[in-house]
Amino acid sequence: MMSHLFPTYSRWEIEPASAKGTKITAVDGKEYLDFTSGIGVCNLGHCHPHIEQAVTEQLKKFWHVSNLFPQSMQEKAAKLLADAAGLDLVFFANSGAEANEAALKLARKATNRSKIISFNNSFHGRTFGSMAVTGQDKIKNGFGPMLETFIHLPFNQVEAFLKEIDQNTAAVVLEVVQGEGGINVATSEFLKVIEKACKDNGTLLIIDEIQTGIGRTGKPFAFQHFDIKPDIITAAKGLGSGLPIGAVVGTAELQDAFGPGSHGSTFGGNPIAIAAAVATMEMIFTEQLLTETTAMGQYLYDQLVTTISKIDGVLDIRGMGLILGIEISGNVPEVLSSLRTKGLILLPAGEKVIRLLPPLTITEAEVNQAIGILESTLTNITSAAL
Ligand SMILES: Cc1ncc(COP(=O)(O)O)c(C=O)c1O
Repeated sequence: MMSHLFPTYSRWEIEPASAKGTKITAVDGKEYLDFTSGIGVCNLGHCHPHIEQAVTEQLKKFWHVSNLFPQSMQEKAAKLLADAAGLDLVFFANSGAEANEAALKLARKATNRSKIISFNNSFHGRTFGSMAVTGQDKIKNGFGPMLETFIHLPFNQVEAFLKEIDQNTAAVVLEVVQGEGGINVATSEFLKVIEKACKDNGTLLIIDEIQTGIGRTGKPFAFQHFDIKPDIITAAKGLGSGLPIGAVVGTAELQDAFGPGSHGSTFGGNPIAIAAAVATMEMIFTEQLLTETTAMGQYLYDQLVTTISKIDGVLDIRGMGLILGIEISGNVPEVLSSLRTKGLILLPAGEKVIRLLPPLTITEAEVNQAIGILESTLTNITSAAL
């Protein structure tokens, strides 16, 4: 049958019929263990009852009224988000790319500068600004000239960075763990040098927490593992548990740059998405859930190191909390396809990495099941390739 969708995605062979927790049931009745969480979105597992209830309650009140009305639930969501990040003010958008787009606009207006530094292998989205700031040619190929004041530097290389940052630099944009680019973790030294150089130059530090935020690493935001304070963070993905929402979170000093009429979005901060975000943050930003996430991240990492890292062709295991990667020498799409036939759904990251993004509510039994499938699949694939 001819598809009427642009072929922008190479899709898998599984059509979901329903999903609950860590399980997806396909239309043919087959069950899968979902270690993708909808690409880092359903951090509480699929269809969490608390989120369902919050969304259902809002559905019965009103769906959309526009941002011309005051909305106390938006205020509540903004306070939860700002408090968790140690920042002050929030602008709500509908996606990660939109949040980054807004953050770039905010930084340029607040500093009255246009130069933006970001890093190779980063991913920040597909709109023009977020694409231009992304450090991967494959995302930009074919779309013509990008933005000439956007500079890309090697990740984790202090000297190259110090040579480039100057008093014309509006902002530095980075992911603490590069998600799409291969699960590359920033070093503490790199982050500290960036933070200091930003202060010295009057440059804003923007941390893209779209994949790493909302509890994924065992803290509300990944930057909180390091002793640094960004001026702006962006969040999306896990913020709405599957309802579309994005957010820019910044310091009070930025207030004047985003005054009335400076930026906006019809759907940004939509009441249904906001209801999901409030319920999600109330569940995730708790000591108990974050402690459990840290423990399960450690458990999964330890299992990967003891069982998987020994297999021929496995080159590295890395990440933070429950954003983890297995670097292999084999063909990642082929391995992922074999894993799916055995009931485990995983993601790629970069060319050579298998990415694990299970829900934060994952159990030890589910981790053990996934490790068993990974072990048998990777052993067979690598021995077949030899
Ligand atoms: C770090 C990061 N930034 C930005 C984005 C873009 O988010 P969205 O797809 O919601 O536009 C993503 C999506 O994968 C991401 O991982």
